[in-house]
Amino acid sequence: MSAVDAMTNAASSERGDVPVLEAVHVTKHFAVRGSLFRRGPRRVVHAVDDVSLSLHAGRIMALVGESGSGKSTFARLLAQLYPLTGGEVRYRGTAVRVRGGKALRAHVSRVQLILQDPFGSFNPVATIARTLSRAVRIHHPAKTAREQKAVIEDLLAQVNLRPARQFTEKFPHELSGGQLQRISIARALAANPDVFLADEPVSSLDVSIRLGVLNLLRRLVEDRGVALLYVTHDIASARYFAEDTTVMYAGQLVEAGPSEQVTQNAAHPYTQLLISSAPDPSRDDDAAPRDIGQPPSLIDPPAGCRFHPRCPFAMERCATQAPPRFELENGQWANCWLYADDAEAAEGRAENAAVYRRTEVRPAGRIVRTGPANAPTHTTRTKGEQQ
Ligand SMILES: Nc1ncnc2c1ncn2[C@@H]1O[C@H](COP(=O)(O)OP(=O)(O)O)[C@@H](O)[C@H]1O
Ligand code: SF4
Ligand SMILES: [Mg+2]
Repeated sequence: MSAVDAMTNAASSERGDVPVLEAVHVTKHFAVRGSLFRRGPRRVVHAVDDVSLSLHAGRIMALVGESGSGKSTFARLLAQLYPLTGGEVRYRGTAVRVRGGKALRAHVSRVQLILQDPFGSFNPVATIARTLSRAVRIHHPAKTAREQKAVIEDLLAQVNLRPARQFTEKFPHELSGGQLQRISIARALAANPDVFLADEPVSSLDVSIRLGVLNLLRRLVEDRGVALLYVTHDIASARYFAEDTTVMYAGQLVEAGPSEQVTQNAAHPYTQLLISSAPDPSRDDDAAPRDIGQPPSLIDPPAGCRFHPRCPFAMERCATQAPPRFELENGQWANCWLYADDAEAAEGRAENAAVYRRTEVRPAGRIVRTGPANAPTHTTRTKGEQQ
């Protein structure tokens, strides 16, 4: 068992449950168009690299990162819409390998994807009733037409669209973005799923109606015990909406932990930069770096820590050695050399805390080597073994 598996399992057994859906070392590389006929090595986009993450019943996990960091690709891998380049997706502890047909239908009914743009995910020439009856027919084939109509009314009621007849005979363009997003949630509910993968579910909606849709999703998570992955570029919303937050950068996870901790006392310099570049008039940290720069090319990502060309705290090793995962106090972890057990790292941590005027985040005293194959080996220590 690898260290990541051990940590994932330890977290699960602490909560006493097996994750509903789990990514274990999931990797996705896309071939670059035209590269098949090029001389030399085949070029690929490293969209998702070695990502492990667990979703639990009745909990919301936020997956946060800038545009192009691989969030949507990862959500689609969990939904099994692309074949994996490496790793495994597990449903209730069992690996899922879906190649279409019955297995794909079974996975799709358990794991439902909700997309950012509701207008793009509806047939513009079909009424809402027609779209919803198609979904209901697929997932409730034994029901009579009358029973299916009742199911549609119930689904619309669950997303607070009442009376149903006010919506069923409409076409998508006759509804607002918020109403249509509620209907796409109703359509997802038709499958009675265990997992929602919501990819930027409110990003295309007016600010005034975002909260309503997020509250609806939260209610569904609480009432039905589904697991929810909330994909967003907006780290501020993760604090209020999700129990746990994971941060993704250039195809890799860089930090995770309880949302309150990750958003209020971020450990990884990328998370810190994301937070300081998000508009927040109430914050008083003028000294914090705000120039967020550009993410790297995923065809030829930087060696070592992928964030090192943008990192104000980069040390020499950051350019050549990929940082392993360091467990931190307060339930966080971060893939960052600042949490290594040496004097240079300690100095970097103190500088980091001073720049952000925050409490210094410290290693938990248990260092686990989980980095990619080129990361240097670490001693695994437990608290009791610390000097
Ligand atoms: N089907 C695809 N073929 C090739 N490259 C892709 C494909 N889908 C996504 N990518 C690339 O993968 C990277 C991650 O994209 P994406 O998952 O959409 O990120 P995000 O959702 O975080 O914005 C980007 O560089 C994007 O161009
Ligand atoms: S590993 Fe180095 S470059 Fe990467 S975030 Fe940490 S300090 Fe910055
Ligand atoms: Mg996306």
